[in-house]
Amino acid sequence: MKAVIFDLDGVICFTDKYHYQAWKALADRLGIYFDEQINNRLRGVSRMASLDIILERSEKEYSQEEKDAFAAEKNALYVELLQQMSPADLSDEVKSTLDELRAAGYLLAIGSSSKNTKLILSRLGLGDFFDAISDGTNITHSKPHPEVFLMAADMLHLPPAECLVVEDAKAGIEAASAGGFKSAGIGEASEHPDCTYPIAHFAYLKTILV
Ligand code: BG6
Ligand code: MG
Repeated sequence: MKAVIFDLDGVICFTDKYHYQAWKALADRLGIYFDEQINNRLRGVSRMASLDIILERSEKEYSQEEKDAFAAEKNALYVELLQQMSPADLSDEVKSTLDELRAAGYLLAIGSSSKNTKLILSRLGLGDFFDAISDGTNITHSKPHPEVFLMAADMLHLPPAECLVVEDAKAGIEAASAGGFKSAGIGEASEHPDCTYPIAHFAYLKTILV
């Protein structure tokens, strides 16, 4: 292994609660039932695919134009909520593990479906930290398609076999395995049969890599 490609939401930081609040506000306005369990299904899934999951409970059919407006409405609120994030939201465990992996000589990259990746990294004080950032702005297929990780490996000039993907979502483990990457899975991702290294904590990455 020469590099580690990290998912962002649920691995480096915890934005679930903000996604939930913003989707919940939209769902409430539209009179659609939405709860934390449905929110769990949105992990690793693109913004538009997330909206489609929420609209499964809607009695009304919406046009593409209306859906685009709903996604923009949710994102505006989400971005507003992200303004609360600061370097204090980066845990000591994540920061010290990233520093140790860097000191051990690994290239470090992000592979996230989020179009807000750069904003989130800058809120966390990690704006200039990673060697490559592949995110929702440079892909046409979201996880479980491997594109986001393949682009990250490409940016690092490395083949997938030399990059470990770190994920919290099952869709992310599927994306890694479809792209020929080994993976470390945290939380529900650790239960996926394709997960190479199930880990209970982010810091356990050191037991695999250092
Ligand atoms: C992923 C999250 O990282 O990004 C998903 O796990 C989210 O829940 C997706 O839907 C897209 O995020 P954004 O910021 O582009 O709306
Ligand atoms: Mg995630």
